[in-house]
Amino acid sequence: MTVHFIGAGPGAPDLLTLRGRDLIAACPVCLYAGSLVPQAVLAHCPQGARIVNTAPLDLDAIMAEITSAHTAGHDIARLHSGDLSLWSAMGEQLRRLRALDIPYTVTPGVPSFAAAAAALGAELTLPGLAQSVVLTRTSGRASAMPAQETLANFAATGATLALHLSIQNLAHVVAETTPHYGPDCPVAIVWRASWPDQRIIRATLATVEAALPEGIARTALILIGPALAAEVFDESCLYAPDYDRRYRPQSADSPWSEWSESDD
Ligand SMILES: C[S@@+](CC[C@H](N)C(=O)[O-])C[C@H]1O[C@@H](n2cnc3c(N)ncnc32)[C@H](O)[C@@H]1O
Repeated sequence: MTVHFIGAGPGAPDLLTLRGRDLIAACPVCLYAGSLVPQAVLAHCPQGARIVNTAPLDLDAIMAEITSAHTAGHDIARLHSGDLSLWSAMGEQLRRLRALDIPYTVTPGVPSFAAAAAALGAELTLPGLAQSVVLTRTSGRASAMPAQETLANFAATGATLALHLSIQNLAHVVAETTPHYGPDCPVAIVWRASWPDQRIIRATLATVEAALPEGIARTALILIGPALAAEVFDESCLYAPDYDRRYRPQSADSPWSEWSESDD
């Protein structure tokens, strides 16, 4: 018996991985984080599967579901939204499984920041403007931020910020980041990225609070940084005609010219 943790993706049911789909179809038990995992993903469960929404359960109750399936020898598909490496509460479940010697696997999913960037048609790392993306959040009721992980510290780097779980703190986000990026810095809010009712708000740090429509709460990402609306940026060297690289050596003297494709 194995517990298969599966990233269910950002919302659109066809953004589930093939591996995730096949594991769901093979498991007689499915535990899913109901607040964000799309119902359509559950259609892959086999007929007669036990399907449990864990949103109203505490950790002990979730573990009781897992140990009961373990006793019965039933594999479990454990679904969380987006990818499991970010704010999924997978870590505490894995720790309990290790203590109980219950086997598990982890299958990644499409994270919501990638779905939001896709909705915007944006590359978050444009040459010369931003080469890092900070995936972060602001303090909430359930989780305080570690002392060094302040918005001001991250904003001082000038990297593209992808703020999760923070739409309710928009005023604070604007106040903390404006001194570093300036009031004209582009901001995009993507609500329910990849869902049929997805909404996109493009603004600047100076205008974003006024631009936020009523009803945009939860399930939204705030993206901040110069890469979000830039038309003026360097082209990458990668595709420059004169750039000497392994796959396109520019001369017989190139250090790459002796590489063959099999060297990769
Ligand atoms: C508990 S975290 C889960 C993050 C998830 N594990 C991931 O990989 O994206 C929930 C937060 O992720 C963001 N989020 C999740 N799905 C989203 C979506 N479809 N569109 C925009 N933001 C989303 C929101 O900021 C939301 O408050």
